[in-house]
Amino acid sequence: MVVLTTQKPTDKFVLTQNSETKQHNRNIAAMVQLCSVSKTYTNGCHALVNINLEVKKGEFLFLTGPSGSGKSTLLKLLYGDELPTQGDVIVNESNVTALRGDRLSFFRRRIGVVFQDYKLIPRRTVAENVSVVLKAQGYTRKEIQRRLEPSLKLVGLYSKADCFPEHLSGGEQQRVGIARAIVGTPPIILADEPTGNLDPENSWQVIQMFQKLNSFGVTVIVTTHDEQLVRRCNHPVAQIQDGRLSRKS
Ligand SMILES: Nc1ncnc2c1ncn2[C@@H]1O[C@H](COP(=O)(O)OP(=O)(O)OP(=O)(O)O)[C@@H](O)[C@H]1O
Ligand SMILES: [Mg+2]
Repeated sequence: MVVLTTQKPTDKFVLTQNSETKQHNRNIAAMVQLCSVSKTYTNGCHALVNINLEVKKGEFLFLTGPSGSGKSTLLKLLYGDELPTQGDVIVNESNVTALRGDRLSFFRRRIGVVFQDYKLIPRRTVAENVSVVLKAQGYTRKEIQRRLEPSLKLVGLYSKADCFPEHLSGGEQQRVGIARAIVGTPPIILADEPTGNLDPENSWQVIQMFQKLNSFGVTVIVTTHDEQLVRRCNHPVAQIQDGRLSRKS
């Protein structure tokens, strides 16, 4: 079996490039395991080809690659927004490919997802945007308030809880997106180009927030095109090219 590991001592993730992991054992130290995963969309596009990837609990991984290489598709498989055509996707000890209905909804509650375009609800305040997921899950007003405050404080927006998204800068809107992702205290955050619409300073702030969460033990996977940002951090990097995963050169 070919196992690629990165050179730096901090780089603990492992990429494997063949199908020997088909008979994999579920590894409880792993937060994410992709085993011989391929994704072909119904239009015939081979978005991912035989991906094997393991990300351990508490790691921070950057996923880079050109436009159209498959980064978003890979994240979508991790939060169950797309199903693989082949292979197994295991996240937080759940086989995502086997989840449907309520079990899938429950699984998603334990995953924080951050998007490039923030996906905030325009006519809702910051506090409402962050708490919308908790409301949907039936939390009481008191419990929502208890969870809201630390999330907004962590992203530095407690004083803007009653503002509407249109009155916030791009960086602030993304921080609302992060607060919404973490309010349910998920063990893993998936961020798809979270800095794609931000200037370097705001991008750095966002990455520092992910690093802080990571220091609390949260597993973080961030896709990005920003080479400078990646170089500034000392985190493992996996590159994806034409749907295939490789070590970054
Ligand atoms: N729903 C879909 N139906 C068909 N093809 C799709 C779909 N979503 C993505 N693709 C195709 O799959 C490939 C990978 O797309 P994906 O969005 O994962 O790339 P990406 O690396 O995230 O790109 P970008 O950096 O531009 O966001 C592309 O060729 C894309 O056209
Ligand atoms: Mg994408």
